[in-house]
Amino acid sequence: MADVKVQIRGNGPLRVIGEIEIIDQSGNQYAIPEGQWVSFCRCGQSDNKPFCDGTHQDCGFEAPSEAK
Ligand code: FES
Repeated sequence: MADVKVQIRGNGPLRVIGEIEIIDQSGNQYAIPEGQWVSFCRCGQSDNKPFCDGTHQDCGFEAPSEAK
């Protein structure tokens, strides 16, 4: 089993569960609280990109996610 899991949230973000490093375009690392999961915006409307800020719930984002 993988140490990191990526969960595709229906009509919502990509949730990453497990220890990861996230770096910006300059190579600087984002601070992530230890033991927390991280959600990346998939709708393009977040004011806190690359992270989800919940805006997808109000902007009509639709992206059902079922593995086939
Ligand atoms: S997916 Fe949540 S704000 Fe974009």
